[in-house]
Amino acid sequence: MPICLFTRTSRCVLLNAERFYTPLLRAHPNRKRHSRQARRSIMKQPVCVLGAGRMGSSLATALVNNGHPTWVWNRTPEKCAPLVAMGAKSGTNLQDVVRAAEIIFVIVLDFAASNALLKRDGVAPLLKGKTVVQLTSGSPRLAREDASWIGAQGAEYLDGAIMATPDFIGRPEAAILYSGSRTAYETCEPVLRILGGQTTYVGNVPGQASALDTALLAQMWGSLFGALQGMAVAQAEGIEVETLRAQLLAFKPVVDAALLDAIDRSASCRFAGDDGTLASLGAHYSAFRHLLEVCDERGLEPAFVRAMDRVFREALAQNGASADFASLAPWFQRDGTIAEVAEQADG
Ligand SMILES: NC(=O)c1ccc[n+]([C@@H]2O[C@H](COP(=O)([O-])OP(=O)(O)OC[C@H]3O[C@@H](n4cnc5c(N)ncnc54)[C@H](OP(=O)(O)O)[C@@H]3O)[C@@H](O)[C@H]2O)c1
Repeated sequence: MPICLFTRTSRCVLLNAERFYTPLLRAHPNRKRHSRQARRSIMKQPVCVLGAGRMGSSLATALVNNGHPTWVWNRTPEKCAPLVAMGAKSGTNLQDVVRAAEIIFVIVLDFAASNALLKRDGVAPLLKGKTVVQLTSGSPRLAREDASWIGAQGAEYLDGAIMATPDFIGRPEAAILYSGSRTAYETCEPVLRILGGQTTYVGNVPGQASALDTALLAQMWGSLFGALQGMAVAQAEGIEVETLRAQLLAFKPVVDAALLDAIDRSASCRFAGDDGTLASLGAHYSAFRHLLEVCDERGLEPAFVRAMDRVFREALAQNGASADFASLAPWFQRDGTIAEVAEQADG
């Protein structure tokens, strides 16, 4: 019979955890003197992980390896087998698993999949008094809606954003961001720290972890698109890939500094060129034109470069060549001018 049958009250959860650890406690050499202390430190909140895809399996593995009573569930049950072999528990159905846990980690493809799991009659009433940690990637709006629905079920909610790939989970450098209930975060923090050493609470507004995730990924995609564009140029011009890799790394500190400078200047609206300007808009555009030229001469796909060219030209028209690169920032904060310029460029 699944242990979760005993978990409707906190007293029963305690019994549940004791069952898990009784053999360990019995084996303790100074059992009498230390047993109460040992019980307190060893007993851990039972958790479940809903979703045993790449990321879910990695999260569950870290929890099991840290001795957490961990239940797992996946739509395709076979994916739970390796986790069960490692020491995770798997219920006969989703309800068993949710009932067993105090902390429910949800890590499925998207919020539609998450809704299909949680918002069903047999599951929703089981959430009361528990904490749902939603690690599925979603937009800030989806996270806010989720927080509101979970709250209405009488459960605490944490919106989480995993800034790492599965191989980083459980490592000190793995960053995971959380927003939502501070109480829930503080209660769950010891468990959350198992998943990533760089665990950060970004505030009590649900959706802000997802918003920060989106902001950081925007930067990543810019870099990834840029890397492939650079690769196309390098290949077209006969540069060895090893040379490109080495010089990308050598250039990285300069790029990182420019990136932070652009953010700081945008935040304080310092758009005009000044003594602190690293390179004027005119200097940037002069170099950028070489990229346009190579694409043209070598027949490389110009779509990405042309989109950047459009932004450069608007900023130059509005702010002049001596402006700082940060003067491009307003372009990204939609207004009427952008649409007009985009239309002109397309025409
Ligand atoms: N992988 C990464 O590097 C990474 C990094 C950060 C965040 N994330 C986020 O983590 C989440 C999971 O990603 P992943 O890499 O683990 O993906 P994955 O390996 O493709 O796994 C997807 C999971 O979602 C489940 N699923 C899909 N549709 C479902 C539905 N309708 N009902 C129930 N379960 C459903 C799958 O179940 P089945 O096994 O039955 O198909 C599987 O457990 C995503 O939101 C992703 O954006 C991933």
